[in-house]
Amino acid sequence: MPTLLHINACSRPRSQSRSLRVGDAFIEGWKSAHKDGVVHEEVLFREELAMRDATDTNARIDNSRGADLSGEEKQRFDKMCHYIEPLKKADVLLITTPMWNFGPPWKLKQWIDTVTQARVTFEYTSEGPRGLVKAKGAIVGSTGGVYKEGDPRETHNFLTPYLQWALAWIGVKDAPACFAHGVDAQKDKAEQIIAEACEKARRLGMGM
Ligand SMILES: Cc1cc2nc3c(=O)[nH]c(=O)nc-3n(C[C@H](O)[C@H](O)[C@H](O)COP(=O)(O)O)c2cc1C
Repeated sequence: MPTLLHINACSRPRSQSRSLRVGDAFIEGWKSAHKDGVVHEEVLFREELAMRDATDTNARIDNSRGADLSGEEKQRFDKMCHYIEPLKKADVLLITTPMWNFGPPWKLKQWIDTVTQARVTFEYTSEGPRGLVKAKGAIVGSTGGVYKEGDPRETHNFLTPYLQWALAWIGVKDAPACFAHGVDAQKDKAEQIIAEACEKARRLGMGM
């Protein structure tokens, strides 16, 4: 059974979030191409996640050095693995996110910090670093302003280049992005912008 892991980085519910409209269109497209497909959604703003304090950090550093963990460090490491397991099992990773202050919402950065672990999701080899996650990926959502190729603000977009780089590091290479750009700056056209992004996302999902 093909599985899609949906990382929902939206702080707002489906009744309010424009990003989730685009994300759900992707899922609809993917489901139409994979009738037996299973979607597992993680709503990041409801999750505690890892990397909160020194114990989390030390557990990660000690494990990456090959040390055996025990006690509180082991518990914390196991908690981190709880978020990594669905990622390693997924055939498709979909991240749905708005842009916040030119980058990802803090919860999405926390998820990246939680799942990016040496010897678990990437490793160093004699040929250089290698990602260990096999899923294909896509990044969708919405932005208040317009950051499309050729627009004056294009270079202010630290969201998709950052996510694409961070995902490629753990093995999810060439994750395409599909965003509704300008949903706040172009309020009168917002519905049309979202509908067009949804259509693109649906097609993208069908192809994955
Ligand atoms: C805290 C915060 C920061 C934001 N920062 C940006 C930004 O840097 N650039 C931008 O274009 N829009 C920014 N926005 C607007 C959101 O990207 C836009 O409203 C988006 O559609 C929200 O997604 P949602 O409807 O899924 O919540 C910001 C919104 C919030 C709440």
